[in-house]
Amino acid sequence: YVMGIDLGTSAVKILLVDQNGEVCQEVSKSYPLIIEKSGYSEQNPEEWVVRTAEGLAELIKGFQGNVKDIEGISFSGQMHGLVLLDRQLQVLRNAILWNDTRTTKQCREIYEIVGRERLLEITKNPALEGFTLPKILWVKENEPEIFKQASVFMLPKDYLRYRMTGQIQMEYSDAAGALLLHVAKREWSKEILDLLGLSPELCPPLVESHANVGTISSDFAKKTGLSEATKVFAGGADNACGTLGAGILAEGKTLCSIGTSGVILSYEKRNDLDFDGKVHYFNHSEENSYYTMGVTLAAGYSLSWFKDTFAKEEAFDQFLQGIETVAAGANGLLFTPYLVGERTPHADSNIRASFIGIDASHEKKHFARSVLEGITFSLNETVEIFRNNGKKIDSIVSIGGGAKNETWLQMQADIFDAKIEKLTSEQGPGMGAAMLAAYGCGWFSSLKECAEQFTHIDKTYHPNKENVETYKKLFKIYQQVYTNTKELNV
Ligand code: XUL
Repeated sequence: YVMGIDLGTSAVKILLVDQNGEVCQEVSKSYPLIIEKSGYSEQNPEEWVVRTAEGLAELIKGFQGNVKDIEGISFSGQMHGLVLLDRQLQVLRNAILWNDTRTTKQCREIYEIVGRERLLEITKNPALEGFTLPKILWVKENEPEIFKQASVFMLPKDYLRYRMTGQIQMEYSDAAGALLLHVAKREWSKEILDLLGLSPELCPPLVESHANVGTISSDFAKKTGLSEATKVFAGGADNACGTLGAGILAEGKTLCSIGTSGVILSYEKRNDLDFDGKVHYFNHSEENSYYTMGVTLAAGYSLSWFKDTFAKEEAFDQFLQGIETVAAGANGLLFTPYLVGERTPHADSNIRASFIGIDASHEKKHFARSVLEGITFSLNETVEIFRNNGKKIDSIVSIGGGAKNETWLQMQADIFDAKIEKLTSEQGPGMGAAMLAAYGCGWFSSLKECAEQFTHIDKTYHPNKENVETYKKLFKIYQQVYTNTKELNV
């Protein structure tokens, strides 16, 4: 057996997977976001460790086999979150998460000091509020007493792994989202660190995603029932692992993944393409490969916000009942999902969401449908950027929340104007993490071979011509909403 631990934004999900890629057991434990002010989003790293240990203990308790047969564990995690440790390797403050947007000033400073062009050359990415570097600068400027004590920064799942093994490392796919990595050379950028007055010692040693970085510490083994002999592999960023788990391991393959945020992601073998920072360009969790991706900040979050605000008592299935009876376009109701700002294509943390075209005849089902359409329109902005850059996108694998509802899957086919493929058993980034452990343990000669064994297409959704036309027209209107509501910010 292997285990995949996905340290998400709202919960940690642990999968126990056998040699055939079947999930034998799974456990999920949730934790809250700490939102002190609008635009802030934090979590207490201790909470990740405690909930993961609880989840593991529960899973091991229900496990019929011998724990020694759990050969390997690996990780997937929410990207970009800043965890700062002092010289005793104790956490200095709450983690500042990927969806925290307090760092607009620091992003400006990065452009002024490093230069946009140089930053793009080195990191292949623009300075965005969500990334780690601006968060480091924010702490340096706003909490100098804390920053003075900092000895190393970590990303969420790397911190969790440190607590399980006692070893400090970071792997390339997550490091790429720090805005401090020379993505093509795969090394920390001394140039950026020097220019911004940051010590290179803040950056942990880098390893491959499938690298064996240690074993379970005796303390953590005692707490959870895991064996100390279980090998621990570094893991990957959630998007990189979601991609692995969906078998996106060849050029021309595209993924739509909807969690709290949503992404459209495309596999790349090359590291020298130029998207002028319009999409993110990160190292993959497969050695020497990359991916490009656009991000909708509030994808699943838009849906859960709407449900929790207006129909808290309902389960998701119940809440979405009836959306299939509403025609494409939600009878003139249009939603833009900018609840917490937007990344792709606007990179604007101040824009806010809107409903346009509300009619007295609209019911809850129209609102629910328009929320799904708005999220999908936002993701379509990335599909459009890819197509404008000459990429051919005629089929997309859909995973996450977007793959849980038939109407939404068909909507994706109609809005993206591409075939949508749904997997038989869809486990998201946790499965990619388990695959890294399986490959690391030597079960397969490549991640590709592992993906062939572990992932299968269940169903394909074909675009409906009439709906494609309706959505093309609506998408043009959708795109104008941003321009026309830009001034209406928080
Ligand atoms: C990617 C990003 C999000 C998080 C979600 O750049 O910020 O997709 O990885 O966990």
